[in-house]
Amino acid sequence: MATNAKHVIDFDHHSPVLRDNNTEVFKSLMYNEHGCPMGWSEHHGGFWAIWGYEALYAAVQDWQTFSSGHSAECPKGVPSTNYIDPLIPIDYDGQIQQDFRKVVLNWFNPGHARGMQARIQQICDELVNSFIERGEAELSYEMFTAMPAIVTLEMLGWDSSRWREWVDWVHAMIHDGVLDPEGSMEAVMNLYGSINKEISDRRDHLGDDLFSDMMRTPVNDRLLTDDELRNFALLVLLGGMDTTAGVTGNSLLLIDKDPALRQQLIDNVDQMPKIIEEFLRIAGPGGGLYRRVTADTEFFGEQLKEGEKVLMMFWAASRDPKAFPDPEKIDIFREENRHMAFGLGPHRCLGSHHARMMLSTMMTAIFTRFADFQVQWDGVERFEDCGSVYAVRHLPVTFTPGTRLV
Ligand code: HEM
Repeated sequence: MATNAKHVIDFDHHSPVLRDNNTEVFKSLMYNEHGCPMGWSEHHGGFWAIWGYEALYAAVQDWQTFSSGHSAECPKGVPSTNYIDPLIPIDYDGQIQQDFRKVVLNWFNPGHARGMQARIQQICDELVNSFIERGEAELSYEMFTAMPAIVTLEMLGWDSSRWREWVDWVHAMIHDGVLDPEGSMEAVMNLYGSINKEISDRRDHLGDDLFSDMMRTPVNDRLLTDDELRNFALLVLLGGMDTTAGVTGNSLLLIDKDPALRQQLIDNVDQMPKIIEEFLRIAGPGGGLYRRVTADTEFFGEQLKEGEKVLMMFWAASRDPKAFPDPEKIDIFREENRHMAFGLGPHRCLGSHHARMMLSTMMTAIFTRFADFQVQWDGVERFEDCGSVYAVRHLPVTFTPGTRLV
């Protein structure tokens, strides 16, 4: 799509350059000579990227101009994916999006997350027990990928022993969309089929779980259709499974390279619920979240045209020097930390309270039970494409063997 952008950038969020050097890439975007908070990239058919905190803050509130809606004519993603049904509520705007959110708010408020604290702790203890005596572990699948997957499935009321199967489909859908579109679409079909089976299994015996509430709660005086239920549950899986794992893995890699930071964490482990905010800011999983411009408009000095796509760079905005002094420094005592890891505005993350609880519980376990872990860098594997979520697939470590908790 032609554009008269003032600030044109050579930026591709699916490129390994971003995956391997995101600090440098963000700096080159952020410290441009005109001080632009956004720019136009010609990659993938063309899109705007917004990285400045103030501009992104304004864009996420203005859902009338920056729509989350997609359609067959204007498919989601940069590049466009094969059109799949809109996820609920993330691909909707306005009142209906808020109405959909209300269906699940009882499950995603701070009180509900606090109520799950004991169970989250128990899952964490059991996971660590399973490898603590060995003195080595593959922390992704043995801990930080397993934990949010189990919690999400338990909230939905689904069989959590199948977490690995669900996670593999979610990973393929999120990470392989550009590199292996066919494999990714096959995973989507597996997800669709398995969710459909959960719907039919539950139809006549609803229980006390998130998915049953989705099935029994009317929206505008009608129950959700099977397609809507599937698209809602799928988003809970996508939001729940990959993101918390991403920030945990990213954080551990940073800590392994910084002995002073590791010691600070050991010394302040009781402050973990506050400390994790700094890791959400600096090591957040990013997220290729898009909007579509609904009408020609001027925005922060640029002329946006109807139909253009916009990449919301929450992870870059959380490192904007105008909002965070010394943004590249990991300061676990940072006072003002209004990071954007969970987004902002009408689509602000529903799972943030649970994510914080899981992240804090896992980090506390690590820095009390095997704080001397050493990353085995030869075995570290990132997901190749970080355009959707910046995360670690495999993270092997060694440590002084410990004892199981009874
Ligand atoms: C560290 C972990 C997490 C991060 C960084 C994160 C990040 C985000 C972000 C940035 C958004 C805003 C999307 C937008 O503006 O388009 C979002 C929305 C959402 N997240 Fe999360 N998320 C996390 C964990 C979770 C968990 C654990 C769940 C559920 C179990 C979840 C469920 C959702 C849902 C359902 C939405 C859509 C809300 C709406 O559209 O109204 N997230 N998340």
